[in-house]
Amino acid sequence: MAQRLPVLMNKKPCYDIVFAKDFEGLMEELTELGVEGKRLCIVTDSNVDKLYGEEVKHLLEGKCLKVAKYVFSAGEENKTLDTVRELYKYLIQEGFDRKDMLLALGGGVVGDLTGYAAATYLRGIDYIQLPTTLLAQTDSSIGGKTGVDFDGYKNMVGAFKMPRLVYMNMSVLRSLDDRQFFSGFAEVMKHGIIKDAIFYEWLIENMYEICERDLDVLEEMLMRSCMVKKLVVEKDPTEQGDRALLNLGHTIGHAIEKAKNFELYHGECVALGIVAAAYISWKKELLAMEEYYEIRDMFVPFYLPISVDNINPQEILSLTKSDKKMEAGTIKFVLLKKIGKAVIDKSVTDEEILAAIDEINFNEEDAYE
Ligand code: GLY
Repeated sequence: MAQRLPVLMNKKPCYDIVFAKDFEGLMEELTELGVEGKRLCIVTDSNVDKLYGEEVKHLLEGKCLKVAKYVFSAGEENKTLDTVRELYKYLIQEGFDRKDMLLALGGGVVGDLTGYAAATYLRGIDYIQLPTTLLAQTDSSIGGKTGVDFDGYKNMVGAFKMPRLVYMNMSVLRSLDDRQFFSGFAEVMKHGIIKDAIFYEWLIENMYEICERDLDVLEEMLMRSCMVKKLVVEKDPTEQGDRALLNLGHTIGHAIEKAKNFELYHGECVALGIVAAAYISWKKELLAMEEYYEIRDMFVPFYLPISVDNINPQEILSLTKSDKKMEAGTIKFVLLKKIGKAVIDKSVTDEEILAAIDEINFNEEDAYE
């Protein structure tokens, strides 16, 4: 039996996160949601389609009114309103109405974009998440944040729309390339760092098994990581308060992602952003120096960067100001009091941000001094 975690909204069950080892149980889960008389559209990208598109389509075919599949070109550069527009056109052409459903099969780009199309097509239709990357399984598929990038700004246009189900086939994690896998792992670490010091210690103790991708250890890791996310989004679904803590590392992280033209993966930028946020926390005497160094150094065995080549500190600073996490002109920064305890801080100065960027900026000249 697959393990499951129910996610509540207003203290009532809203949707389940199912932790499975294959796609076989998906139809049964969908039957529970009453999909027999519905049209389903699998939305996926060109990479994921090659791996799982036909397998999932085949499993659902003959069991509902129609199973369609919409495939768009893989890549963050396609997470745009143009792709959503093409998807709307396809849904209209295939006769999708308000009782039909979208299935987001893929990583964060697919999940966010499909969720946004589901939130807006005919003023909202159901969708489910079938996350196929570690980043999507541990973070972006849970909590109903949907959206697309706009004019190079990440997730600038979006909506909150809860999925009807999150079904994760964890065995897909074994076929991710290393960079993808460890990029997603940065968000797992983030969950421990912001809310759960015992989980953080467990991650370090299980470093070898995680790097080897032992499926039982990955299952426990995902369940514990998703538990942190679930508790946060249940308490604050629309980010009025505590949900913002999940943005640890994202202010400077997103700025680096944009400055580097999305050449670095999201989780790699989040790791860099967490190092910078922990540095600011230390310098503001919120976090002990030892914990700053521990957080920084513990990314290394998981193949995550703690410094980045040749970034322009002024450019990163100005990009942090165009990030969404601004309120009345001040940046809502997430800082750390200790491992397992994050706080929102609105007093971070430009000088503190520049000093943190300097800390993670790898300069070849410095290295040979
Ligand atoms: N990934 C941050 C959030 O879901 O709020």
